[in-house]
Order: sequence, then C-alpha cells, then structure tokens
Amino acid sequence: MGSVSLKIGDGTARFKRATLCSSALNILMLISVITTNLFALYAFTYSPKDREIHSLNRTHKNISLISEQVSLILREIDASQKKLAQMEKEILGYESIDLSRSNVANELKLFLQRHPLPLGKDSKSGITEMVASVGHSCEKSMDLLSQYMNYKVSGPCPDDWSLAQKLILHGCEPLPRRRCLAKSVPKVGLQPFPKSLWKPVSDKIVMWSGLGCKNFQCLNSKKLGRDCVGCFDLVNGFENQRFVKARGKNDFPIDDVLALTSGGIRIGFDIGGGSGTFAARMAEKNVTVITSTLNIDAPFSEFIAARGLFPLFLSLDHRFPFYDNVFDLVHASSGLDIGGKPEKLEFLMFDIDRILRAGGLLWLDNFYCANDEKKKALTRLIERFGFKKLKWVIGEKSESGKSEVYLSAVLQKPVRG
Ligand SMILES: *[C@@H]1O[C@H](CO)[C@@H](O)[C@H](O)[C@H]1NC(C)=O
Ligand SMILES: *[C@@H]1O[C@H](CO)[C@@H](O)[C@H](O)[C@H]1NC(C)=O
Ligand SMILES: *[C@@H]1O[C@H](CO)[C@@H](O)[C@H](O)[C@H]1NC(C)=O
Repeated sequence: MGSVSLKIGDGTARFKRATLCSSALNILMLISVITTNLFALYAFTYSPKDREIHSLNRTHKNISLISEQVSLILREIDASQKKLAQMEKEILGYESIDLSRSNVANELKLFLQRHPLPLGKDSKSGITEMVASVGHSCEKSMDLLSQYMNYKVSGPCPDDWSLAQKLILHGCEPLPRRRCLAKSVPKVGLQPFPKSLWKPVSDKIVMWSGLGCKNFQCLNSKKLGRDCVGCFDLVNGFENQRFVKARGKNDFPIDDVLALTSGGIRIGFDIGGGSGTFAARMAEKNVTVITSTLNIDAPFSEFIAARGLFPLFLSLDHRFPFYDNVFDLVHASSGLDIGGKPEKLEFLMFDIDRILRAGGLLWLDNFYCANDEKKKALTRLIERFGFKKLKWVIGEKSESGKSEVYLSAVLQKPVRG
C-alpha cells in the first residue's frame, strides 16, 4: 500500500504516497529513535550514589565504564542518524536517490521535485502528485549524473552524448530531462523517402564527438560487431544484399519470411538493428520497422534517421516502451545475447513475447551460440513459449579457423487462452 510507480517496470524511481500507514510508521520510527537516545542519556548520567555512595572512590572513577557508555551513545547517535536519513529520503519521495547529498546538481533536484496535482487527488489513478522518473541505478553513478545535470539553464548543452550513453549503459535509464539546447548538426542534403534508404550518408550530418572514427570510411574498415561488418557502406560490400540474397542456409530472404503468413505484417521492431538495413528492406515492403540501437562506437541513430527510418535509442536492459500485443514482427540477431545469468535472457524474451501479437513472428536471425550448452538453453527457453517453429536452422560458420554455431528461426506466437 502507498507505493505508486508512474512508469511501470524496473528502472523507474518510485515514490511513496503519504498514506495513514506510512505516516504512522514514520511516527513510530521517530519515537523509537527518541527512546533509544533517552536510554543512552540515562546510562551516561547514572551514578550509583543511592547504593554505594560511601565507598565511592572518586579518584577511581571507572574510566572504562565511561568510555564504554560513550561509545554506546555514539553508536546510538549513528544509528539514529541513519534512521533519520532514511526517513528523510522517504519524505523526499525517492528511496534510492539521495537528493540530500551536497554534490547533487540543483537541476537534478528540480527535475525530480514532486508536483502536487492542482486539484488534489486524482480519482482515476489515485495519485496526489506527479513525479518525474529516472533510473534507480542512477544512484550508482551520482558523480556522472551530477556532471550530466551541470549546465547553464536555457544555454547550449555540453557536447556530452557519450556521457549520456555511459550513464545509460550503467543502468541510469531513463535519464533525467535537461533544460538546455542539445548540440545540433545542420542536416544538409537529406534525401526524400524512399530514395533516402540507400543513399550514402554524408560525414558532415552526424556528430562524431566521443567516437574513435571521424568519418564513415573509417567505420567501414572496422568490424563493429557481429551484425555490423561494413554496415555503413550502402553501396559496396554485402549490406545492400542482406535480406535479399542468402549467403548460407541461416540467411532467410525477407520475401520468404513474409510468405510464411497470409499478410498482416505491417509493423515491426528490430532489436539491435545495426545501421537500419532490415528496416530499410522492410520499408520497401511497406512494413514500418523501428530499429533499437545505441551509439556504440558509431553514430547508428543519426545514420538510421538519415535513411528515413525510425531509430530508438534504448538499451536492452530497459523494458520495451510499447504496449502489449502490438507488433506483427520482432527481428533480432546476436545483439539479443546480453550475457549474464540465464534469467537475464528470460526477462528479455518474455518482454519480446509481450509486445508481439498472437500470430506475430519472432525472427531470430543468425543468433550466435557460443557453445552447444548455450544453444540447448536457448532452444529450451524458446520451447517454453510454445511458439510455432515456421523455420528452424542451426548452422555452423567457420570464423578464422574456429567453427561457430548460429541459430536462425522464424517463430510464430501462439494464441494463448
Ligand atoms: C581510592 O583509590 C586510591 C588510588 O587507587 C587508593 O589508593 C585508595 O585506597 C582508594 N580508596 C578506597 C576507599 O578504596
Ligand atoms: C571498571 O569496572 C570494571 C567492571 O565494571 C572492572 O572490570 C575494571 O577493572 C574497572 N576498572 C578500574 C580502573 O577500576
Ligand atoms: C507499397 O505501397 C505503395 C503505395 O500504396 C504501393 O504502390 C506498392 O505497390 C506497395 N509495395 C509493396 C511491396 O507492397
């Protein structure tokens, strides 16, 4: 009771509603703090004058007894201070972010300030205050967060998107809003859609700050990950053939996948979609695809946007900001492998299942399985959802002499009772 989260899901700061229950708790805690201190004071001032006043050797006053009492009192004070700080945090409304700290940027305090609803309690939601949300893990990166929130109000923001991304990667997601103007780049020479899908993007219209490479030529000479080898080169190389031509049995052409259902694939979500080529090919089929991406080592978001596609700047640790059962298709490749305990992948898979509609397709595209155990665990997990296996291919590729196992599958979400 009394706990309300405006944005449901993890990564959201929660606040306590001032209910009868929580104020009673606060009073109880206050009383307990006062009584423990009174006991300590009594012990400190107590002298045995009633009983042994005559044998009292004043020069022999037991020093160790006193120091024992003093340390007891100090412990009590320390504990009381901790209790008070906890109560203060609860009163401020943030259980995990300590806004009372001295190094917290004022802008952060202002952003997180609770705003009482002008007409009092809202009868529909039951809330009395509006609260801005910020990732609870921001607490672990308070120094970085304070640096991020340190700017001139209404002035230009510091050129610090890489700091923002660093915070996101530390679990500080969502980030707080800021009241400064983000650095902008003149987007000259943007092509009209659909011509934009395959036109090379000029180096000049994306931001290169915080990146090792300063142009696309440099990026194309690097392997940026399993799903992005030369993926910014839309003219040469393989990028413009992906999803059209198959390099092996693990590659499914888009036409083959769309033919598996009798239409009805209109909107999709591509997880970790590189430079947006999947969305581009789907756009040619009149399917709207949102591509989730962070700017790890490359300006993915701006590149995707320049192609006339929708980039979603979101880490895979964040609950997908979509309602249940909305997508006709979810496409994911090795980017899905977020490592860690098996539960981590489970949380992600359940979230994918949630946003996919019944009859919708989950396309696992060249999902890299580090070993046979990983492949078996993934297979077991997929089978738990009861998806219909429309396509299922386990293939091996030889990468620099070492054979690697990949799973490609098209799975259909069942109608569940
Ligand atoms: C009080 O303490 C002093 C110093 O230790 C000692 O000499 C003296 O005998 C003590 N007196 C009594 C009454 O215990
Ligand atoms: C003080 O009191 C404790 C027990 O209450 C005793 O063990 C200790 O020896 C005393 N110290 C002196 C200096 O009298
Ligand atoms: C996409 O939509 C346009 C306009 O409605 C239409 O002309 C075109 O044939 C469609 N393309 C496909 C592949 O369905």
